[in-house]
Amino acid sequence: MSDLIQQAVRRRDFLRWLAASPLLPYLGGCDVFSAGDAVAQEAPRRALDDLVGSAAEALDIFDMEKVAEFVMPPAHFGYIQTGVDGEETQHNNRAGFERLYVRPRRLVDVSTIDTRVTLFGREWQSPIIVAPAGSQRAFHADGELATARAAQARGHLQVLSSVSSTGVEAVNGARGEPVWYQLYATSNWDVTQAVVARVREAGCPTLVLTVDLPGNSNRLTQERWKRIDDRDCASCHREGGQAPPVKPMYQGTSYQPSDFRTAGMTWDFIGRLRGITDQRIIVKGLVTREDAELAVEHGVDAVWVSNHGGRSEGSGRATIDALPEMVEGVQGRVPVIVDGGIRRGTDVFKAMARGATAVAIGRPYLWGLGAFGQEGVERVLQILQTELEITMQLAGTPSLADIGASSIGAGS
Ligand code: FNR
Ligand code: LAC
Repeated sequence: MSDLIQQAVRRRDFLRWLAASPLLPYLGGCDVFSAGDAVAQEAPRRALDDLVGSAAEALDIFDMEKVAEFVMPPAHFGYIQTGVDGEETQHNNRAGFERLYVRPRRLVDVSTIDTRVTLFGREWQSPIIVAPAGSQRAFHADGELATARAAQARGHLQVLSSVSSTGVEAVNGARGEPVWYQLYATSNWDVTQAVVARVREAGCPTLVLTVDLPGNSNRLTQERWKRIDDRDCASCHREGGQAPPVKPMYQGTSYQPSDFRTAGMTWDFIGRLRGITDQRIIVKGLVTREDAELAVEHGVDAVWVSNHGGRSEGSGRATIDALPEMVEGVQGRVPVIVDGGIRRGTDVFKAMARGATAVAIGRPYLWGLGAFGQEGVERVLQILQTELEITMQLAGTPSLADIGASSIGAGS
């Protein structure tokens, strides 16, 4: 059992003792252990009995989520978990998958299962992409480097976030080849140009322009988790009483925090970006047919269907339910990537059945990272890939091309 898990188990035992102790009403002061609410908030969610002690022991990705919850600082775990408002969109991302079922065909030769997918002439052994997620050193000390090593070990495409805690050059080194780069363009054109030039120089072939966070989003779950974190956030988030340091990818530019908001960005931005780089441009965060059509009209290289894992608008619509109209809008002209709520191999299968070219995962690998670093990310990728292969064999669909609309049905 790792040291972190041993610590967590000791903490669990202490909380249990505290819950049972007649001293409970008299213990005051410290935020987390004060009053009954420490127990009320933590004990039910923090039942540790079935924690796995190593990445290899994890049976599904939810085993990773449980470990991550125990070993990670609550505020940082809350940052992973959060969606917006009452979590309706995040919930529906999952519910959308759960309403669908697999329609297996029998007596098909499934002795070989082929999950290879080709994106822009490059073949990947799996359609599962590692989605961009910021600040990964807040989840594990090795952060994006651990994710990159895991993606390399398992042969997955990785997309690096603009707000990563490690610069693109080091991540490319750990990945063994240039990653795709997710661009938060900022509202400052000088900053945008500098960042694009840097990632182009680093060899990243593809920019993934995220367009679903033009302003603030209402992340209540994150705030709630912060409140049960008794650590001194300022000691890490500020240096010597200064404002938080600029993220590595904006360092050396004229970036100001207010530039992060891109409320004025419109479709002509794609052309502007084209004017400064020959990298491929993908737009991430589209969920309507109209926008799928506009994206193709504006010459994007792929459409990425996403509601930011339920972290942008609280629309409530599942991305798996938006996917069919997106595929119709795109009309096979460019690849379609989808993310949001993919937690099992069956979910990957369902997305492929609804016309996705590839899928991406966010929280699952972040849980793996928080729980066990590189090994955790590798195990998450292995679990989902194995589950996909099992599903394809049982469904009588030996290759991704065999998965079609009739491979699934919709329940009530
Ligand atoms: C994200 N996501 C994200 N997207 C993006 O374009 N740039 C980013 O920096 C981030 N950062 C980020 C941090 C965290 C903690 C999470 C959970 C998500 C969204 C991400 O790329 C992806 O769209 C969703 O995570 C997919 O949904 P699931 O798999 O998390 O349900
Ligand atoms: C988020 C930003 C970083 O979802 O994309 O937290």
